[in-house]
Amino acid sequence: MTIGIAGAGSIGVAMAVVFARAGHAVRCWDPYPDARRRAATDLDDRLARLHDGGLLDEEPGAVSGRVSFVGELESAVVDARLVQECAPERLDVKQSLYARLAELTGPGVPLASSSSALRAGLLADGSPAAERILVAHPANPPYLLPVIELVPSTVTDPSVTRTAAELYAAAGLHPIALHREVEGFVFNRLQGAVLREAYCLVRDGVVDVADLDAVVTLGLGRRWSVIGPFETVDLNTRGGIEAHAEKMGPAYERMGRERGQHDPWTPDLVATVAAQRRAELPLEDWDRRVAWRDERLIERARADAVTAAVHSRTAP
Ligand SMILES: NC(=O)c1ccc[n+]([C@@H]2O[C@H](COP(=O)([O-])OP(=O)(O)OC[C@H]3O[C@@H](n4cnc5c(N)ncnc54)[C@H](O)[C@@H]3O)[C@@H](O)[C@H]2O)c1
Repeated sequence: MTIGIAGAGSIGVAMAVVFARAGHAVRCWDPYPDARRRAATDLDDRLARLHDGGLLDEEPGAVSGRVSFVGELESAVVDARLVQECAPERLDVKQSLYARLAELTGPGVPLASSSSALRAGLLADGSPAAERILVAHPANPPYLLPVIELVPSTVTDPSVTRTAAELYAAAGLHPIALHREVEGFVFNRLQGAVLREAYCLVRDGVVDVADLDAVVTLGLGRRWSVIGPFETVDLNTRGGIEAHAEKMGPAYERMGRERGQHDPWTPDLVATVAAQRRAELPLEDWDRRVAWRDERLIERARADAVTAAVHSRTAP
C-alpha cells in the first residue's frame, strides 16, 4: 500500500516515519528541491534516533528505503490509499492544493489535512472532493506521541473517516474521532488552556518560567503520561467524579471567574462525565485502579531516575 504525503517539512517527514515504519511505501511531494533534500536528511536522522532508542524493528535503511521524495504531486498521490496533506498552515495554499488533489486521486481516498487550526469545512469549501476531506491532526512528533485527532466537516463521508481511522490505527496511531469541528480541536484547546494560565501566572508574578515548567514535568505531566485529567480527579477522590466536583468545583469556579470565565460544572455536566467514567471503571474497581496508577507512576519514576543517572554521566 502506498501513502502520499504533500509537503515534506517537519510534520510531512514525521508522518513518513510513521507510515514507513508500519511497512508502507511512502511518496512525499514537496515543490521545493531544497526542502526535499533537507527532508531526506531529516528522515535519516529521525530513523537513526529511533533505532538508537530501540524503537525500530528494522535497520533505518530498510525503513527509509520505502520513502521517496518527488517533485511532481501526481507521482506522489496517483495510486495512494490515503493522502496526508502537510503543507504550510495557509488556507489559500491548502485550498489550491485540494483542488489539485481532487483531480489526481480516486473515489474513497481520504484527503487528510495535518492542519493545527484550519477546519476541514474551510479546506473543503467548493471542492469537488469535499466528502473526502477531513482534518487528521497529529501530535508532534507522531512516531513518539501516537495520537491523531480526526475531525470531519459536516460533509465528510463517514466511510472516509472510518477508512482513515483504520489506516492510522494500523500504522500504530490512536485515532480520536471528534464529534464536531471546533477551532484548535482537542489537543490544542487543552494545551491552550494550560498555556493561557501559565502566561497569567508569570505575568502576575506568581512563579518563574522554569519553575512553572517543573510543575508540569515533575507533577502534572508525569501524572498525565499515565492517566488523563478526568481519570486523575476520578481517582484522587474516593467516590469519584461527583465527590471531586462537589469538593473542588467551587474553587475551580472561583479560579475561572478570576480569569473572566464562567463555565460552571453543572449537575448535568458532572453526571455526564461521571456516567462515562463509570462505564470505564465501576466504583467497585476503584481501589484496584488507584494501585495500578501508583504502579505505573513507580515505573515512570524509575525510568526517569535511570535517564537522570545516564545524563549526569554523559552531560558535557
Ligand atoms: N509543527 C508542528 O508541531 C505541527 C503539529 C501538528 C500539525 N502541524 C501542521 O502540519 C502542517 C505542516 O506544518 P510543518 O510544521 O510541517 O510546516 P513546515 O514549514 O515545516 O513544512 C511545510 C512544507 O510544505 C512545503 N510547501 C511549501 N509550499 C507548499 C505548497 N504549495 N504545497 C505543498 N507543500 C508546500 C514547504 O517547502 C515545507 O517543506 C501545518 O498545517 C501545521 O499546522 C504542525
